[in-house]
Amino acid sequence: MSEPISDSDAKKCPIHEIRKVPIDGTPLSPSATFEQWRKEGAATPLEYEDGHQGLVVTRYELAKLILEDKRFSQKPIRMPLHQISREESAPGTTIIDGELATASDLDPGNLLFLDGEQHLKIRRAVTSRFSVRSAKGYESDIKKIVSKQIENLISQGSPVDLSEHYSEPISAAGHARVLGIPESLYSDYERLFVGKSEEREKIEYLRRVLAFKKASPADDLLSELVKSELQKNEIEGLTLSLMVSGRDNVAYMISTGIVALLKHPDQLQALRDNPALIDGGIEELLRISAVFLTMFPRTATEDVEIDGVKIPCGQSVSVSAVAANYDERQYSDPDRFDLSRDAFGHLGFGYGLHGCLGQQVARIEIREGIMQLLQAFPNLKLVHAEQDEPMPFYHPVAAYQVGEVIVGWD
Ligand code: HEM
Repeated sequence: MSEPISDSDAKKCPIHEIRKVPIDGTPLSPSATFEQWRKEGAATPLEYEDGHQGLVVTRYELAKLILEDKRFSQKPIRMPLHQISREESAPGTTIIDGELATASDLDPGNLLFLDGEQHLKIRRAVTSRFSVRSAKGYESDIKKIVSKQIENLISQGSPVDLSEHYSEPISAAGHARVLGIPESLYSDYERLFVGKSEEREKIEYLRRVLAFKKASPADDLLSELVKSELQKNEIEGLTLSLMVSGRDNVAYMISTGIVALLKHPDQLQALRDNPALIDGGIEELLRISAVFLTMFPRTATEDVEIDGVKIPCGQSVSVSAVAANYDERQYSDPDRFDLSRDAFGHLGFGYGLHGCLGQQVARIEIREGIMQLLQAFPNLKLVHAEQDEPMPFYHPVAAYQVGEVIVGWD
């Protein structure tokens, strides 16, 4: 009979068992499993929800290389994950306004499912509306949107759920402003996109908005889009991806940013004493706030060897922004929350080919959301935050949704 393998032998010869995304972390305290995986290597075998196997990238350097590498496809071809979420939300084919429509009919315009030239063409159609200059142009309206929600909080009284009565309304109204959703159709946007609804209802809605913009054009993104050279399904797909992308992330970041500050009184005081800390501070908040445990999975379109890691053609690869943002090779003492650290370059907004289009406007919304709140409530207190416990992910990527954050004041 052979000798049992001792602990030290096992360490010399690590067994690469297939793992699932760990669920024991919290938004402000990621699972220790990520640290373990980073120690073992730059990428770890991963089992997806549907049982198929791939890799999750946990080290910062490899994460960036993958995100800028054109040999990885973002199309949902080898992603049963996307199929599952679609079948749940939009079973079969639907007739909307006499036209065939499933979410996949609109894929040619959905930025997050595109590669190469088609991706560039669709992204270019709206890039100028998300530049630093354009974002500056939205700033005064965003300030007003936030001020209105401060009044809303005051009228709700203490204690109150910050996410429901402040962060969510700011992110929805901010999104509507940037896209140009008309006021008369705004409450339906909130109902369908902040609340739960089927893909079919969302498509019906965006068609109503686009018809409105065609009939009454204004100086905004959607009016420009309906006049563009893009095909009808491309315009609709792009509109759908813009109405969905990032809205809940902004709300999450305002709420989670406030939780982080209230749990670190030294950092909160530093920010109150020196509000200029906020610009770099937002980057640190994004680094530590674990928005995307894994981003949208990619598929290798050929055999790839990258940074010493072999990825066979057809394999799914997910980048963990959270694991990369806590990589000690990139950020010293990564568990320390420090508003004055240089956190630029974090992967909270992704990176490379599909890097977040809305990041400039998101920064303004998060900055205003946090700073106006701190100014209005000098003695803001945390009563309870769902963020303190492991929260469920939302499908098909492992990302957190906005948790309940109860705050109070005297
Ligand atoms: C705190 C707020 C936000 C966070 C953390 C965030 C994060 C991200 C990340 C990580 C990606 C890349 C996903 C991947 O490569 O798998 C992404 C892409 C994207 N984001 Fe954001 N986002 C935010 C706000 C916004 C806003 C406000 C908008 C629009 C108004 C937006 C629009 C987009 C779009 C359209 C893409 C796809 C880009 C492409 O595929 O070319 N995001 N975002």
